[in-house]
Amino acid sequence: MNDVTSIDRTQRPYSAAAQAFLARKPALFINNEWVASSHDQLLEVEDPSSGKVIGHVVDASDRDVDRAVAAARIAFDDGRWSGLPPMTRERTMIRLADLIEANADEFAELEAIDNGKPKGMAGAVDVPGAVSHIRFMAGWASKISGEVIPPYTMPAGQVFGYTVREPVGVCAQIVPWNFPLLMACLKIAPALAAGCTVVLKPAEQTSLTALRLADLIAEAGFPAGVVNVITGNGHTAGDRMVKHPDVDKIAFTGSTEIGKLINRNATDTLKHVTLELGGKSPVVILPDVDVAQAAPGAAGAIFFNSGQVCVAGSRLYAHRSIFDQVIEGVAATAPFWAPRASLDPDAHMGPLVSKEQFDRVMGYIEAGKRDGASVAVGGDAAPAAGGYYVNPTVLVDVNPQMSVVREEIFGPVVVAQRFDDLDEVAREANNTCYGLGAGVWTRDVAAMHRLAGKIKAGTVWGNCHAVIDTALPFGGYKESGVGREQGRQGIEAYLETKTVIIQM
Ligand code: NAI
Ligand code: MG
Repeated sequence: MNDVTSIDRTQRPYSAAAQAFLARKPALFINNEWVASSHDQLLEVEDPSSGKVIGHVVDASDRDVDRAVAAARIAFDDGRWSGLPPMTRERTMIRLADLIEANADEFAELEAIDNGKPKGMAGAVDVPGAVSHIRFMAGWASKISGEVIPPYTMPAGQVFGYTVREPVGVCAQIVPWNFPLLMACLKIAPALAAGCTVVLKPAEQTSLTALRLADLIAEAGFPAGVVNVITGNGHTAGDRMVKHPDVDKIAFTGSTEIGKLINRNATDTLKHVTLELGGKSPVVILPDVDVAQAAPGAAGAIFFNSGQVCVAGSRLYAHRSIFDQVIEGVAATAPFWAPRASLDPDAHMGPLVSKEQFDRVMGYIEAGKRDGASVAVGGDAAPAAGGYYVNPTVLVDVNPQMSVVREEIFGPVVVAQRFDDLDEVAREANNTCYGLGAGVWTRDVAAMHRLAGKIKAGTVWGNCHAVIDTALPFGGYKESGVGREQGRQGIEAYLETKTVIIQM
């Protein structure tokens, strides 16, 4: 396993189920039916483990988007979903979760083929995560309620005031390519529990699992038009969704750049907007830790999913007294994380999702070297006949002005710096326009709480990283986002409050 020079990165054969799925005629899922696009534009489906084109999906036209939005609009307005007994909505969602679980192996394989992540990771993280988001949110369908509120300025019994929670309406949900199925389910689950209808668009790089999910939407028994899935480019189909007057809410996960654009574009129609955007999350290692535990933790924080994680621990701060040991410990995990083809059963890390992402990440590594950073491990692409493999990389001798320290790289690249005291590291941790996540490694409870208080981030992890649970709110401070997903706050983001005041 330590002989990483001889890894064969040839992609393994696909299963018969995956081949059959890839051979399907490209179509859009509108009103519970597979329909043809209004034009003949297609997007290529590429396997980043081989760099080969393996199929096609529709690149939706404006007319296609309008058709999907109209379906969702009608399905919302006639109450065919929001008007059902909450128990029925909950049960339909649970059926969907069960169906995903029953097809877990196929979902894991499709995700591995499409995104490049190891099938084992997809099976252990993405698919069960998707299922648990739906199961958790399904329960809210029957637990949303308003309250009776006695008026402040009027005598008791004269005016009856109460609130009702209503679904916001038609939701356009735009998801990225790093956790395609997981993000799709994380998005549709609270919308459906609230009684909304949905037009979902996966990222143009990774449409397969959202399309397979659409099959199960129909099978689970959702009324037609409640969930519509369209595939297509962001600047065309995505843009049309964001500007569409019949859409009430946008939920987006992706780059900060596009998040800002979406926020601006949604302003003319004053849509509700939730944005889950980029990050440059710090991992802080205090001097009291067991380095044998913390170093692999810091490595996992950046190398998991090839670093293509919004909360990737991409800035490592280790106390000066243990810095060298920590770097050695992180570097020692490189053979474990050596990139392999996504269907290789020994893979822990796969290729990057695309040539574009590969070029972006390699460009950052080169910029770091030019700016004076030293490579402690990696710093190069892994040899392969095709595919987009970047070796796990640790850069040292960096400073806060370098682009590798300031900007989101979204690859298996961590920059490591020393610190001396808590105030200093808290300042450095916050020296970023982002504020999504942060990890703190220590056994000193007081130091842990002190840092958790000082760091401006939506989530602070202690002695772990990127632990996500559907019951716990998730989102960003600063330019990492607007609003929260998951937990009670996740469902709140899909509800309006209506106040009723009746003179008696
Ligand atoms: P992106 O933000 O352009 O794409 C994400 C989604 O937004 C895709 O579904 C895309 O079709 C859609 N989109 C793009 N332009 C749009 C527009 N004008 N209107 C509506 N929807 C639009 O991200 P991209 O270009 O794939 O990756 C660039 C960088 O973004 C990455 O290197 C990474 O730094 C960051 N990123 C962050 C993610 C996160 O989870 N926070 C996920 C993906 C990318
Ligand atoms: Mg983009």
